[in-house]
Amino acid sequence: MQRIIFATGNQGKMREIRRILENLTIKGELTQILSMKDAGIDIDIEENGTTFEENAVIKAKAVGAEAKDAIVLADDSGLVIDHLNGEPGIYSARYMGEDTSYRIKNASLIERLSGVEDEKRTARFVCAIAAAMPDGTVFTETGTIEGRIGYEEKGENGFGYDPIFYVPEYGKTTAELTEDEKNEVSHRGKALRAVRKRLEENV
Ligand code: IMP
Repeated sequence: MQRIIFATGNQGKMREIRRILENLTIKGELTQILSMKDAGIDIDIEENGTTFEENAVIKAKAVGAEAKDAIVLADDSGLVIDHLNGEPGIYSARYMGEDTSYRIKNASLIERLSGVEDEKRTARFVCAIAAAMPDGTVFTETGTIEGRIGYEEKGENGFGYDPIFYVPEYGKTTAELTEDEKNEVSHRGKALRAVRKRLEENV
C-alpha cells in the first residue's frame, strides 16, 4: 500500500484531506493517508519562505526527509487582502501573534478597512500544496477562493478568518457554509483535488 503523509498537526485539515483523497489509487495501489503523528514524525519546521508555495515545499521536503518511500504532502495557506497590500498573506497564522484570538485578529482587519467601500474590500484565501515524492521530486498545486472582507463577523462554522470572509455567490461568509459546501469551493479543496489528479495521472 502506498503511504501518503500529510504534514499537519491540524485535525480539521486531516478530516478534509481524508475526505478528498478517499480511495485514491496510484499505479493500481490503494493509498493510506496518515497524519505526521500517525507516521511517528515529530519535527518543528521553520516556515521561512516568501510565498505560500515556498513554505509548502519547505514543509513537504523536511517531512519527506524523515519518511522513506512515502509521498509527503504539505500545505501553506492564508488570507490575502488587496487593500492591505496582500496582508496578512503568508503571515496569516502569525498576524498579531500566534496566540491572539481570531476574534481580535478579525476585529483588527475590519477596523483597518473601515471606510473602505465594497468594491475595494476584495480578498482571497490561497492554499498551496506541495507533494514530495519518494524519488525526491516535488510539485505544487495552488487553489484560491475569491471574496470580500465583511463589516462584522458572521457564522459559527469553519475557523480562523472564515467569519469575515464573505463569498458573494453564496451571499454568506465561509463560516456560514456547511463543511461540504466549503470543501467544494475552498482554496484547500481546489488545491487538494488538483493534487489528487496529478497523483492519479502522472505517477
Ligand atoms: P497554515 O496552517 O500555516 O497554512 O496557516 C494558515 C492560516 O491562514 C490559518 O491559521 C488561518 O488563519 C488562515 N486560513 C487558511 N485557510 C483558512 C480558511 O479556510 N479559513 C479561515 N482561515 C484560513
